[in-house]
Amino acid sequence: MQNLRLFSAQAKASFDKLQQSLKPALKGLTKRDKELFLIRLERYFQNLFDGLYPIYGHRPDFDGFLSRLVGLMASYYRERPEDLKALDFERDLTPDWFQRETMVGYVFYVERFADSIKGILDKLDYLEELGVTYLHLMKVIKPREGENDGGYAVLDYRAVDEALGTEDDLEELCRSLRERGISVCIDVVLNHCAKDHDWAKKALAGEKKYQDYFYMFPDRTLPDEYEKTLPEIFPDFAPGNFSYYKEIKQWVWTTFYEFQWDLNWTNPELFLEIVEIMLYWANKGVEVFRLDAVAFMWKRLGTNSQNQMEVFDLLQALRSCSRIATAAVAHKAEAIVSPDDLIKYFGVGKHHGKVSNIAYHNSLMVQYWSAMASRDTRLMTQTLREFPRTPSSIAWGTYIRCHDDIGWAVTDEDAAAVGLDGFLHRKFLSDYYSGEFEGSPAKGAVFQFNPVTQDRRISGSFASLAGLEKGQGLADPALIGQSIERILLGYALMCGYGGIPLLYMGDELGLSNDTSYLKDKDLARDNRWMHRPPMDWKKAKKRHKEGSIEARLFQGVLSIVRARKRTPHLNISYESLVLDTGHPHVFVYRRMHPLGTFLGIYNFSEHSQRISAELCYEHHLFEPFDQLAEHFVTVTDGYIYLKPYDRLWLI
Ligand code: GLC
Repeated sequence: MQNLRLFSAQAKASFDKLQQSLKPALKGLTKRDKELFLIRLERYFQNLFDGLYPIYGHRPDFDGFLSRLVGLMASYYRERPEDLKALDFERDLTPDWFQRETMVGYVFYVERFADSIKGILDKLDYLEELGVTYLHLMKVIKPREGENDGGYAVLDYRAVDEALGTEDDLEELCRSLRERGISVCIDVVLNHCAKDHDWAKKALAGEKKYQDYFYMFPDRTLPDEYEKTLPEIFPDFAPGNFSYYKEIKQWVWTTFYEFQWDLNWTNPELFLEIVEIMLYWANKGVEVFRLDAVAFMWKRLGTNSQNQMEVFDLLQALRSCSRIATAAVAHKAEAIVSPDDLIKYFGVGKHHGKVSNIAYHNSLMVQYWSAMASRDTRLMTQTLREFPRTPSSIAWGTYIRCHDDIGWAVTDEDAAAVGLDGFLHRKFLSDYYSGEFEGSPAKGAVFQFNPVTQDRRISGSFASLAGLEKGQGLADPALIGQSIERILLGYALMCGYGGIPLLYMGDELGLSNDTSYLKDKDLARDNRWMHRPPMDWKKAKKRHKEGSIEARLFQGVLSIVRARKRTPHLNISYESLVLDTGHPHVFVYRRMHPLGTFLGIYNFSEHSQRISAELCYEHHLFEPFDQLAEHFVTVTDGYIYLKPYDRLWLI
């Protein structure tokens, strides 16, 4: 085959040794299926090897490990249902499937959207009305009982939460959605599992094999050394990064909650376990894996133990496994880190384009909230202009709200570049969105106060942070109207920036903060539950009632989604380039597409603004047409006038 010639000598030697283990694993497959597997193996083997060698290559059993890994992939490939094999083949031919302008994501906790996995099928009309093509289901894999970090403390990676249904239900859901062109995404939590997971239980019972799945220390010497440079992720809930278990007289690495034990990726056995879990769900029809908390997967003394080079090796290796055995599957990395680190989750340097397909655009989200509060887009322009370039094969996940809190990822350097003090600006944002700032329309709450850095992250629903809850409380039509426009500007931005828009359940209806979590002892500590309300199906009905708040929002969102789907310029393989127009309230970016230029223009203030029409002419838009409003733009005395919170998509 052709690819073999491109192998390094080392990879070639390992590849040759694999042939023995391949034969039995591929037994029973048709000649064509065998060929397809071998072509994919050859195509991605070098990537796989390059990811694994730096991590496990020094081990005497490395070739044995590789052969078990390839055997595992082959056996899951053999069991892969025919329709999924067909999808694999389709995606070999259309690797850009998740980059299309037609992609629209929707995200929810299963139990908060429907009563069960099966129940989702009864709500398909709603999803189809919204044009959804990608569905991220949260808390579907079996979490531990009691407190479980919103499902991110996994008890059994291969089981569905019984309260919601069975593995078969999930498989059936994936199939039904696939037939309708909707891809299912679930979480695979890579950094930690629940302390009640079987592996952890065996480790607690003293089994050495499973103790090696975690990071354990007999005394405080090393933990204290690590702590010197480790940040605290949940300083309120779980100060420090280690927890002591007297049963085994060991300190266990617990970055997040005490009940979440960090997994030890230096152990090749763990790598095999996780690959098997991913293959298992891929064969059930899951099409996207959201790889949770990936930044933390590798620990290194003297660092913050985030974004270490080995993380990218491991993610590249995991990505290669999917490419080989379940080619239809895409990987989304959940890394809420600074731009320079974030870009590495798509792959830079030797990992270029090989690490993951999708990553969250955290900065866009933060800058939206920052510019909304200050009515000033200069920091946004500065930050996003400086953003590193991305490979053309990837996609951002663009969002304004999600199930997590908002951390003010604004660097001192970016702030200083536009004459702001970073610390004071971050403080202002926390004050503003927690509602402490005089005159703020926002109703949010502080999540995790860090006394050392004085950081205060923020919880709150889109509607409540944008002022809608307050407006409704005061029955103030002006504030309600403004809040709706602010929210719709957010939707236009996430749909029009060049990413898969990830619509967070209920925001399209303006669901406010929900305080019911306070009555549940397992949730009460974590105020992120305030922005995870159950779907309000009564409100959803009102989306067709003209003039209602729900209809103004929902229909507004719908028209943005529809505009997105008819705008090929939004295909994600083309990048957005932020333009510095010097305008303090307006945010502008350009997208270059073979069909011509696209200009995105957003007014972040409650006052009308104007921009020079020269901006369009400079970019060869001589008769600008607004895709959102569906009409040609009027130029008056050389200016384009923008309404408060206006957004234009000009082509
Ligand atoms: C991810 C999840 C978040 C969770 C954390 C730790 O960031 O989105 O909800 O708390 O991982 O598991």
